[in-house]
Amino acid sequence: MSGSRLLGTGSALPRRVVTNAELAQKVDTSDEWIVARTGIRQRHIAGPDETTSTLAIAAARAALADAGVEASSIGLIILATATPDNTFPATATKVQAALGCQGGVAFDVAAVCSGFLYALATADSLLRTGMARRALVIGAETFSRILDWEDRTTCVLFGDGAGAVVLEAPSDQSEGVGILATRLHADGDQHDLLYVDGGPSTTQTVGHVRMRGQEVFRHAVVNLSDVLKEVLEETGISPQDLDWVVPHQANARILDATARKLGISPEKVVVTVDRHANTSAASVPLALDIARKDGRIKTGDLVMLEAMGGGFTWGASLIRM
Ligand code: ACO
Repeated sequence: MSGSRLLGTGSALPRRVVTNAELAQKVDTSDEWIVARTGIRQRHIAGPDETTSTLAIAAARAALADAGVEASSIGLIILATATPDNTFPATATKVQAALGCQGGVAFDVAAVCSGFLYALATADSLLRTGMARRALVIGAETFSRILDWEDRTTCVLFGDGAGAVVLEAPSDQSEGVGILATRLHADGDQHDLLYVDGGPSTTQTVGHVRMRGQEVFRHAVVNLSDVLKEVLEETGISPQDLDWVVPHQANARILDATARKLGISPEKVVVTVDRHANTSAASVPLALDIARKDGRIKTGDLVMLEAMGGGFTWGASLIRM
């Protein structure tokens, strides 16, 4: 088993922190309700000068510094987002220009909360073909811009942020390390359970997030535990062999229920949803970066990334760091 290697990680958050108590002044909710149902205590919300691209650029710069590589060595940038700066061109091209990575390939991927997993798998595949030697894979979102701030059933759940990784194509020296296996899925029949009620080709507006929370919850636990099992079976690894699980940070109860279903100890699950809420495509690389930088995830660790989001789309990826 040999896949693209992860050379470094980085992340970025907006300056402003919004607590549950602050939200309770705007909508009919409470800190107690939000903490009990979701585990969320606060989220970062982008200010007027902060956008998906500014967060993505900051996260990408941090990942390049962590990897110790020059921006000029990056031949591929894939940015996962549901909240691009503009309908087009791709926000990835803004990142490319800001970093000064000339030439190469840059595009966005839209798979909402599982966007980073989709982007990572795409980058790994392209690196294996020789399309580029190094890639930046970024998840970046400003979900605050597509929330209905009068809808208490959705506005309390999300936050803004970005995370990035630098990937390098597999080589003879990378046997047994890097991305070992990935599985992705989509089920378009579930479109109406979680979607945005606008878009350029329908309403010519950006629209707002709409969600049937309980049904999303039910599907999330089933789909995530199924895809984790698939990746474990494919690689012959047992849940107990995993050093860490870095899940999409939607809701602490989804994280608990999924880990319990697979017999994964809660101590091995990286949780940032309390501080960042659900940052959609940014959540997995953001949590991965936090757990690497605070010393929990180390070189040689076996780490499972997993996510599910609107579509539905979902996936999991097993990485030897
Ligand atoms: N504050 C106070 N009360 C609220 C709030 C709020 N913010 N939101 C809803 N309520 C009320 C409801 O109106 C309802 O009141 P009622 O009983 O008088 O009708 C009551 O709380 C219970 O509502 P439910 O929807 O049944 O609450 P539930 O326990 O299902 O929790 C939640 C809702 C947190 C959204 C949960 O269903 C969930 O987490 N679902 C998953 C959604 C998710 O994570 N989506 C993110 C994107 S998908 C992904 O990332 C996997």
